[in-house]
Amino acid sequence: MDSIHIWGGVALQGEVCIQGSKNATLPILAATLLTGECSYIGNCPRISDVYAMTSLLQSLGCIVSWQENGILVDSSRVKRGDMCSEAVRGMRSSLCLLGAMLGRCGEVVMEHPGGCVIGSRPIDLHISALEQMGVEFQEEAGLLKAFAPRLHGARIRLPKPSVGATENIILAGVMAEGDTVLEGAAREPEVTALCRYLQGCGACIEGIGTECLGIRGGRKLYGTDFRVPADRIVAGTYLLACIGTGGSIFLENAPREEMKAVTDLARRMGGKLCISEKGIYVQGPDRPRAVECIRTEPYPGFPTDLQSVALAVETVGDGDTVIEERIFENRFRVVEELRRMGACIEQTDEARVLVRGVPVLHGACTEAKELRGGAALVAAGLMARGKSCVSGCLYIYRGYENICRDFRELGARIISV
Ligand code: UD1
Repeated sequence: MDSIHIWGGVALQGEVCIQGSKNATLPILAATLLTGECSYIGNCPRISDVYAMTSLLQSLGCIVSWQENGILVDSSRVKRGDMCSEAVRGMRSSLCLLGAMLGRCGEVVMEHPGGCVIGSRPIDLHISALEQMGVEFQEEAGLLKAFAPRLHGARIRLPKPSVGATENIILAGVMAEGDTVLEGAAREPEVTALCRYLQGCGACIEGIGTECLGIRGGRKLYGTDFRVPADRIVAGTYLLACIGTGGSIFLENAPREEMKAVTDLARRMGGKLCISEKGIYVQGPDRPRAVECIRTEPYPGFPTDLQSVALAVETVGDGDTVIEERIFENRFRVVEELRRMGACIEQTDEARVLVRGVPVLHGACTEAKELRGGAALVAAGLMARGKSCVSGCLYIYRGYENICRDFRELGARIISV
């Protein structure tokens, strides 16, 4: 099931229900380690990254089971030890087990975490923040060893609002002795969801959703039930694909408040939107308007995870668009693939491409090289005339529960093979 075949040129029509958020589920599953009790995390997406996280939790001694659309984690018998290396290597967010295991056991040994190849993805911010909280690190034969003889609160300033580093500081901070003040925190909704879960467990965190968090350490945490919010990136992918195909769809449960930058862009591209508590209705234009510049930024700006999909839509825009990537370097790997479909794109420098809209893309065989770029190629296939084939789709299944089923529900002719 590594490839997706698409017979494009069909305007999307209908409604689709949006899955739970991958980037919220993963750190919350890691956080279940902190309680030593049972938590039920509802609305978890059935995607390979979540399966990898549950097998990591099992390897650490948790009892994990799927129940309906959620995961029950009993972390009462967590043991110290190494984390199963294959799962760590494949998944960047295994990094949040660093903060969680330090909080729970005071030590952890893990491989350098993997993740999609989008830039160098260093972990220096995680390390320096945790060092300020009393953690000592050693690197030996590719292994990262961390010990916290006494995990304590600290006043930390992040030079960049890293989502993962913010999550690790929160995970360690709620278990540390004393208070932590974090300035320059990431404000992404997934950080907020993690804080809300921890609050439900009894943690005291102030400033949630702002760039300054106050975390009271050392409180006893209890297991709790929590429902993961809908995935703003999956909803944004389908919304932008609708703009690109000139369709009209309803995104049930789409987290409208977290999607303002995306819905604003969709309107600037000529979409008509009707946003309600139940979800987002969007009607695409005959041809997307070329927006002068689309720039990625930390939340609440336009998300880097939707940059490639927006780029794919503007390949058929009615003029020129500059796409500026300000979060990750090397996040334009989709460009050469889109060119195979007739797109006219020039890379002007490392962080910018100029897209010159063409009237129509044609079907072609392309290769997904990372998760969101892969989803962008599927969207491009839906927009294109004729048949497309996207290989390397295992990347896509890391983040989309069933992208083919969802697009079929919207009338597309698409299958995984
Ligand atoms: C998370 C998301 C990812 C999203 C990204 C930015 C998860 C599982 N993944 O990734 O989908 O694209 O946020 O919204 O939630 N950086 C450093 N040093 C560090 C850490 C990060 O320089 O120690 C840099 C990165 O290279 C990047 C920027 O900070 O340029 C932001 O990265 P970060 O927010 O940490 O991304 P992730 O948490 O890995």
